[in-house]
Amino acid sequence: MLKSLKATLMLWVVLVIALVVPLRFFFDVRGQLQRTSAAYDSSLSDWALALGNLVHMRDGEPQFDLSEQTERSLRTTAGSDTVYYVVLGPNGQWVAGDAPLAMPLIGLQRGERRLLDTQLGGQPLRMAVRAVECGAGACQVRVAETMGEREQTRLASVWITALLAGGGALLLALAIWRVVSVAMRPLASVNEQLAERSLDDLRPLRRGRMPSEVQPLVDAIDQLLQRVAVDASRQRHFIADAAHQLRTPLTALRTESELALLEGHPPAVHATLVRMHRSAQRVARLADQLLMLARTEASSREPGGAEPVDLKAVAQDAAQNWVPRALERGADLGFQLESAWLRGRRHLLGELLGNLVHNALEYAGDAEHPARITVRTALIDGPGAARAVLEVEDNGPGIDGAERERVFERFYRLPGSAGSGSGLGLAIVRDIALAHGASVTLLDAEDGGGLRVRVTFPAA
Ligand SMILES: Nc1ncnc2c1ncn2[C@@H]1O[C@H](COP(=O)(O)OP(=O)(O)OP(=O)(O)O)[C@@H](O)[C@H]1O
Ligand SMILES: [Mg+2]
Repeated sequence: MLKSLKATLMLWVVLVIALVVPLRFFFDVRGQLQRTSAAYDSSLSDWALALGNLVHMRDGEPQFDLSEQTERSLRTTAGSDTVYYVVLGPNGQWVAGDAPLAMPLIGLQRGERRLLDTQLGGQPLRMAVRAVECGAGACQVRVAETMGEREQTRLASVWITALLAGGGALLLALAIWRVVSVAMRPLASVNEQLAERSLDDLRPLRRGRMPSEVQPLVDAIDQLLQRVAVDASRQRHFIADAAHQLRTPLTALRTESELALLEGHPPAVHATLVRMHRSAQRVARLADQLLMLARTEASSREPGGAEPVDLKAVAQDAAQNWVPRALERGADLGFQLESAWLRGRRHLLGELLGNLVHNALEYAGDAEHPARITVRTALIDGPGAARAVLEVEDNGPGIDGAERERVFERFYRLPGSAGSGSGLGLAIVRDIALAHGASVTLLDAEDGGGLRVRVTFPAA
């Protein structure tokens, strides 16, 4: 058994063809050769019969009257082959024709006819012999021809049969190859569907016109996908529940540490409290992000829930939230907003934009160069219809081309990154974009340095 089903099928088909075709060829050739010989023999026999009718007795002696015209037609009847004939009396004496053909002696009853192979001067001949009544005895009429043309015809018929058999076998193999390929298509379709799936796409496979042999495989894959989906959903719920449970005590911890910082403490205790407060803030944000990831995935699975949203309004909301924080850090946060309507979930889009602005504030700007951040919303022309686009651009260090895929992985941070993030921000951005059928592209900022993150939504 070969690894490929197609190769195994073809191997068997070729084996069967290799067995059947030579057998068929053998019998075809044999039949063809017999028919060719029979046709030549029959013409020779007819001439022997015709010449026999020209023998008669006169004055007790056998006579043979052959007109010149009949002799010419006899001599040329075999085309390029030579035709001989001889008439022998009852005692074997020569009466007419080519004397050398009188040998060998052949014993025949009156009226009998025979066909045999013989030779004349080393040349093979096919000969028809007929015994005709000559008084009390029997005269013999012999007609013979050389076999050049007969052999050529036999050879040609072998070749034609071989070509027909070979061509037929080739056509058969090609046709079976084609049929096998067509029959295998459903398997290839299952293969393609699985190959182009994203990890989150656990919908049942498209069936189309699946043959019954492939159906059980597709059913089994669908059942597996369903079990994986159930399991993934359980995990998401677990993460969401765990994050949710963590939020309350973490919020309490953050508040308590904040309050404690307001009290007077010895410097060493104060420093510890500051570190505790920062850790509490960080862990609380992590719990929020985990909850957000779980909810984004869940809501992307929910049908409905999307509403008409203007990206401009989403950005204006974000401005209220982020401008004070930008001012605190001495960053210049600007907005270039145009109306851009799409169908989506407003709170998720706000979260997406929040993560991008957070990154820009976190990674752009230093002591000498304050961060300059621009948020843009617009409708751009796309193939077919206009598309809503959201961009956040900064003048920071940007992200190297080689890292632009990896930064979307969960918990991946560029080595040496500033701040105390966990590497979940861009993963959340991508998940929210995917839930809206949008794509996220990382580009260089328009003036060279810095990063421009572009989210392109599908045409409304
Ligand atoms: N605007 C940006 N400029 C330069 N580098 C960036 C920018 N945004 C993201 N990065 C890089 O991509 C990495 C991944 O970003 P992501 O937002 O996913 O995680 P994070 O910011 O490190 O942590 P979190 O967002 O969870 O707090 C960051 O660690 C940073 O190195
Ligand atoms: Mg981030």
